[in-house]
Amino acid sequence: MSDTSRATDAYRALLDVVAAVEPTIADAIRGELDNQRHQLKLIASENYASPATLLAMGTWLSDKYAEGTVGHRFYAGCEYVDVVEARAAELARQVFGAPHAYVQPHSGIDANLVAYWAILAQRVEQPALDEAGVRHVNDLDDAAWAKLRRAFGEQRMLGMSLDAGGHLTHGFRPNISGKLFDQRSYGTDPETGLLDYAEVRRLAHEVRPLVIVAGYSAYPRRIDFAAMREIADEVGATLMVDMAHFAGLVAGKVMTGDEDPVPFAHITTTTTHKSLRGPRGGLVLCQPELAEFVDKGCPMVLGGPLPHVMAAKAVALAEAARPEFRDYAHAIVDNARALAEGLLRRGATLVTGGTDNHLVLLDVASSYGLTGRQAESALLDAGVVTNRNAIPRDPNGAWYTSGVRLGTPALTTLGMGPSEMDEVADLIDTTLRATTRASGPSGPSKAKYTVADGVVERTRARAAELLEKFPLYPEIVL
Ligand SMILES: Cc1ncc(COP(=O)(O)O)c(C=O)c1O
Repeated sequence: MSDTSRATDAYRALLDVVAAVEPTIADAIRGELDNQRHQLKLIASENYASPATLLAMGTWLSDKYAEGTVGHRFYAGCEYVDVVEARAAELARQVFGAPHAYVQPHSGIDANLVAYWAILAQRVEQPALDEAGVRHVNDLDDAAWAKLRRAFGEQRMLGMSLDAGGHLTHGFRPNISGKLFDQRSYGTDPETGLLDYAEVRRLAHEVRPLVIVAGYSAYPRRIDFAAMREIADEVGATLMVDMAHFAGLVAGKVMTGDEDPVPFAHITTTTTHKSLRGPRGGLVLCQPELAEFVDKGCPMVLGGPLPHVMAAKAVALAEAARPEFRDYAHAIVDNARALAEGLLRRGATLVTGGTDNHLVLLDVASSYGLTGRQAESALLDAGVVTNRNAIPRDPNGAWYTSGVRLGTPALTTLGMGPSEMDEVADLIDTTLRATTRASGPSGPSKAKYTVADGVVERTRARAAELLEKFPLYPEIVL
């Protein structure tokens, strides 16, 4: 049986079985595929997982409780979940060259929380237990416990600022990490938009943080992790790298040497669903000295593991271990460069002037006189899905923003290359040039806009033509 008929049969059967119980859900599943097939997906944090990865999630592995870790469960009957988790962890270690992998986190945020608690457990809790001469927090007397709880709250973190491209979980107040740690952030150079390592070093010496976090959601450049580790060592900090966005580029050996975080970080976290192209989820990699603390993620901060998702992580990691994945990862970066060059040639302004990873940050305020919110909406009307994003020192704030973030992992999965990226650059530029800010009673609106007649229709038609040449899941015919 061909791949086409196998995948088609599998999904037809799945939809029939679901529809027999709740047709609304079967219709929504079909509708989502239809949407994804008819939009140019440029959201830098999204991708298309393979049918094998997706199918691995739809099984009875979901029905098993498996708190604990491989061989040390709080529930009986976990022998097959152990097989799944052990294989996923083995593949993660292999793909990233890491001494230890923990594959239970349900998402990137959860992976970061596991990492923070593991660092606190190793650096703050364990010394307190050692000092008291006990093995477990339950054995501390009330005074020692109160002192330890205060000590947790006194720890400092240094992370990348939000408007330079950092993530909310890197110590910002709206997130639990900002309530847990006293956070200071480093930004980027106002002239070049690039990370300034001398400034990170200066701040690290001033702040003396327990943890330095490197990694980003919206920084279009690579990081020198050897330099970050050197700084961390100078001040006795634990270096944590959140490679949620660029894990696929690490797995695919685009980022090697000083650009590969895994050998330099004490602990590395990631999502599995962005450039890594796996199921929605997270994982943690760490040096041996942190392993015992990381493995306590569930039930320390995580709910029960999702064995069906760990199975899908194993499938996706097996795909990432193949030589083709390296070609894919390199193509992501070639495409991002082509997209950036296409936009620059048409006169747009990009944060840092370009890219050397998978994402491009388009400054729509200086390029087109729009807010990010207006640009995002106009592009969606035209069949191009992006997300608005703050740019460094953004005058429009985090809600309206002045930027739009564009990423190439998804279109690269469809097989598009640099010439298609030039066409995509033209679609974006044409749409945004035809978009103007609407005016309200109190001046120019930050949300409302108009697009010149016919532009949306013409752009949609061109996007559809492109997508017809590079169909999503051609092996699935519903
Ligand atoms: C750098 C970074 N870390 C963590 C996350 C959170 O991932 P998740 O949405 O899977 O919790 C994101 C998601 O956007 C991210 O960009």
